[in-house]
Amino acid sequence: METGDTPREEETVKATTTITAQPGSTASRVPRQEGIIKETIGLTDVKTLRAQARQGIEDGAMTAGYKGKVEMVIKLLNEALATEIVCVLRYKRHYFMASGINSLSVKGEFLQHATEEQVHADQLAERIVQLGGEPNFSPEGMLSRSHSEYVEGDSLVEMITEDLVAERIAIDSYREMITYVGTDDPTTCNLLEGILAQEEEHAEDLASLLKKLGP
Ligand SMILES: [Fe+2]
Ligand SMILES: [Fe+2]
Repeated sequence: METGDTPREEETVKATTTITAQPGSTASRVPRQEGIIKETIGLTDVKTLRAQARQGIEDGAMTAGYKGKVEMVIKLLNEALATEIVCVLRYKRHYFMASGINSLSVKGEFLQHATEEQVHADQLAERIVQLGGEPNFSPEGMLSRSHSEYVEGDSLVEMITEDLVAERIAIDSYREMITYVGTDDPTTCNLLEGILAQEEEHAEDLASLLKKLGP
């Protein structure tokens, strides 16, 4: 049914609630929902939300409702960004240098991890910008900002071991960051949780490769 077909119903909705009426919604349903939300979780009323959103509009996604300590969150995200970039470089080195009879499947794993670490780096950089910061891609100091190290390794087993150590460092540092950010910044928290889940998969992959190649 088109909204224009029921002018009387639409007028009633507008008169009783500030929520925009969707085609097909009824006049009684919308205000009841709004009432439940206000009573149970005490959300900011729509008028205040709208006024807040208009203030500091140049800040984009950063609104008055942001509860995190933004400078610290940006610093942590930049450290994570450096960690991811170092991981990309290390996996790329390992991908190109892996050789020997067992290297084919291992090379594929290295390349896949390198690609996924690059995606993590991009996601972190994007979030830093959303928070009003600048992603630090400077090679200067990259290794000291990074949590994990860049170890080349000679043999296939050494390479995998170093990658596993780096993944375990990344796992612990993402866990700590998630605890720090908590519910103050749910978007950053969700992003970090997604990355953490993939780092855990990487660690699992490497651990099973080591088992296959081990003595
Ligand atoms: Fe990563
Ligand atoms: Fe990883």
